[in-house]
Amino acid sequence: MSKIVAANFKTNHTRASTAEYVRALDEGMGRLGYEAPVYLFPPATALDSFETAGDIRVGAQNAYPTVKGSFTGEIGLEQLEEFGIDTVLVGHSERRHILGESQSFVAEKFAWFKERGFTIFYCIGEPLEVREAGEEAVRRYLVEQLEGIDTEYEKLVMAYEPVWAIGTGKTATPDLIEATHAVIKRLCDRPLLYGGSVKPANIAEILAVPGCDGALIGTASWEVSSMLSMLETVNREK
Ligand code: 13P
Repeated sequence: MSKIVAANFKTNHTRASTAEYVRALDEGMGRLGYEAPVYLFPPATALDSFETAGDIRVGAQNAYPTVKGSFTGEIGLEQLEEFGIDTVLVGHSERRHILGESQSFVAEKFAWFKERGFTIFYCIGEPLEVREAGEEAVRRYLVEQLEGIDTEYEKLVMAYEPVWAIGTGKTATPDLIEATHAVIKRLCDRPLLYGGSVKPANIAEILAVPGCDGALIGTASWEVSSMLSMLETVNREK
């Protein structure tokens, strides 16, 4: 199976710079002969139906479980369908910890978008204090983050993103990723990505970890040259 690579722009890039990024990414993928799908999660204002030669799939970083309605500041199915978007990120740690999304709300969102056939990138990962409390504490935390989630959903892509490794430059070691992925794979046998300070310098060793099916990349994906350098590595190592 080819590795799954996904870029999470978070609150970076504008509508104009995203369009330029997609153009440059598509051109670069053509140059590299990169044929596997690349997922891109731009901010909501930059969502669009891009015409590309390469397999670039645009998803939403977040959406509210509604077709439309009174949910100020949110977008729903109607806004996604305008651009043919059928992929959504659910459970990202920034939404859980900064925006205060509870497990029950995350599970409700998951069920709602599953019902509508979306591809769901579902994120789980422990904060530092849980990691420091040991492996059993981490396992219990991850089990709780799977509560209410249909772990057999065929369009589910899992992402393990330890909170302490996100945006910190601190990457989990290959051994830690392998051990934690093994725990998660026992709970959910779906493709499992790693996320947390993945960058050109470490993507090869991360993707070589047994049980790692791809990468969900934040910071290092925001510059298209850096993203393409990672895709070049993925292509070489496949
Ligand atoms: P960084 O790559 O910036 O650590 O972010 C990872 C992430 O949260 C992707 O969803």
